[in-house]
Amino acid sequence: MAELTFFGHASFLLKEEGKEILLFDPFLTDNPSTTVKPEDLKVDYILISHGHADHLGDAYKIAGNTDALIISTAEIARQAQGEGLNAHAQHLGGRHAYPFGSVKLTLAFHGSGIAGGHACGFVVDYYGKKIYFAGDTALFGDMKLIGELDALDLALLPIGDNFTMGLDDAVMASSFLGAKEVLPYHYNTWPLIEADPEEFKQKVEQKTKSQVIILEPGQSYKF
Ligand code: NI
Ligand code: MN
Repeated sequence: MAELTFFGHASFLLKEEGKEILLFDPFLTDNPSTTVKPEDLKVDYILISHGHADHLGDAYKIAGNTDALIISTAEIARQAQGEGLNAHAQHLGGRHAYPFGSVKLTLAFHGSGIAGGHACGFVVDYYGKKIYFAGDTALFGDMKLIGELDALDLALLPIGDNFTMGLDDAVMASSFLGAKEVLPYHYNTWPLIEADPEEFKQKVEQKTKSQVIILEPGQSYKF
């Protein structure tokens, strides 16, 4: 069983007993909702969706502590390598195999937070489980393609509005993706991105075949 732990905002840890550990967008030190300290994490890979501080966060610090391999867009990967860190550069539409499975970078409509870059999302094959992490993004119609190209077990979607798609757009994203399960994030970190995950759950389960999993920061989910 894979286990996904939510650290608040857009930070997730994906692990399976005795196997490689993946960390997504580790924004911990300045995250008012986090439940973990960067120095307490031992991980093998760090996936970074874009360069905004609430996503890049503690990534370089953790990579320096653990020798984890950073997986991101070419612009962020080159910057990380410039800091003396291990990084693998990919870009939009490209998939690459890793010992745990593979990572494909998807479109995300959002700022890159780095000169010349582009924000991304990820479709991760983690020991046979397919997970889509949308990053920060607006709703876009080509999310339908993401769901057609990979049969998703789990889709992680921002719902907090203002900086990303809001709750109702994320309901439509869920209908496009057709994942077995959907999990909301990027809400309630600050008052500006308040959203009710129970309302999201009710609407998704009414309008789609997906089930919604809600995690409080610090909680984990096995699938
Ligand atoms: Ni952002
Ligand atoms: Mn963000």
